[in-house]
Amino acid sequence: MMETPVRKAVIPCAGLGTRFLPATKAQPKEMLPVFDRPAIQYIIEEALASDIEDIVLVTGRGKQAIENHFDKSFELEHYLKERKQYQLLNKVERIAELADIYYVRQKQPLGLGHAISCAKSYLQHEPFAVFLADDLIYSKTPAIKQLINVYKKYNCSVLAVEEVPVEKISHYGVIKPVKISESVFKVEDIVEKPKASEAPSNLGVVGRYILMPEILDILSGVQKGKGGEIQLTDAIKILLKTKPVYAVKLNGKRYDTGDKLGYMKASLEYALRDKEIGGKLKKYLKTV
Ligand code: G1P
Repeated sequence: MMETPVRKAVIPCAGLGTRFLPATKAQPKEMLPVFDRPAIQYIIEEALASDIEDIVLVTGRGKQAIENHFDKSFELEHYLKERKQYQLLNKVERIAELADIYYVRQKQPLGLGHAISCAKSYLQHEPFAVFLADDLIYSKTPAIKQLINVYKKYNCSVLAVEEVPVEKISHYGVIKPVKISESVFKVEDIVEKPKASEAPSNLGVVGRYILMPEILDILSGVQKGKGGEIQLTDAIKILLKTKPVYAVKLNGKRYDTGDKLGYMKASLEYALRDKEIGGKLKKYLKTV
């Protein structure tokens, strides 16, 4: 039987961005620029490059700048047209044409599992992708496409994982893996943010998932877990009792832009890769 294609994605964006205050006092953290575009734009571009064009953003109060970014801006386009700044015009117009983006509000900060539940009626009965916007992954094959390739083979939920250093284990959902190949694992169990001494492995879940629609019904029955939040990890643990779940070690470089150092590394390295300023920036960095 052919698997159902993954056409939809949900991107939770309701977080308050407290780690980046005061920069995030009046603007969403997803709009902080990583080099020349807001972080959220890289995520949308990754989805599109993986043939996902139906995207729902789970937002909250104070996130209107995200909607404006992906909307047409008549004033700005008119201004650029009048001044014949066609290159810039093209960049601005392209953003609004990127994808069909829908918005749903998460009214209370009840966790990742709850955020995904908020998009339930939109997601319906199809497998869907989840992107956590803090994680940017620079890779030849888009990260979510790497997961979709594994999904196509096993027709089940797939999680992105990475080997994490021991002192960071307690920041991640951690899997108990059975190795299938160099980069693919069958998930036997999963624990949300365990102590390093109790972790079933050093493979932490990073911000990309392909999930089967059953997870939505499971999520509606999940009780508050770690940190008093409805945890996606707890729902995956229940899913595992009846359905297989796989994990894939991503090929590429991941930046955790939710962390100040990770954010700076991302911004710097995306700039270093830029044709126009990369070389000059590299030269400059040698002088500081
Ligand atoms: C969430 C998940 C966790 C996962 C992590 C990846 O945690 O709950 O399982 O490993 O994202 O970034 P958060 O970082 O939102 O606390």
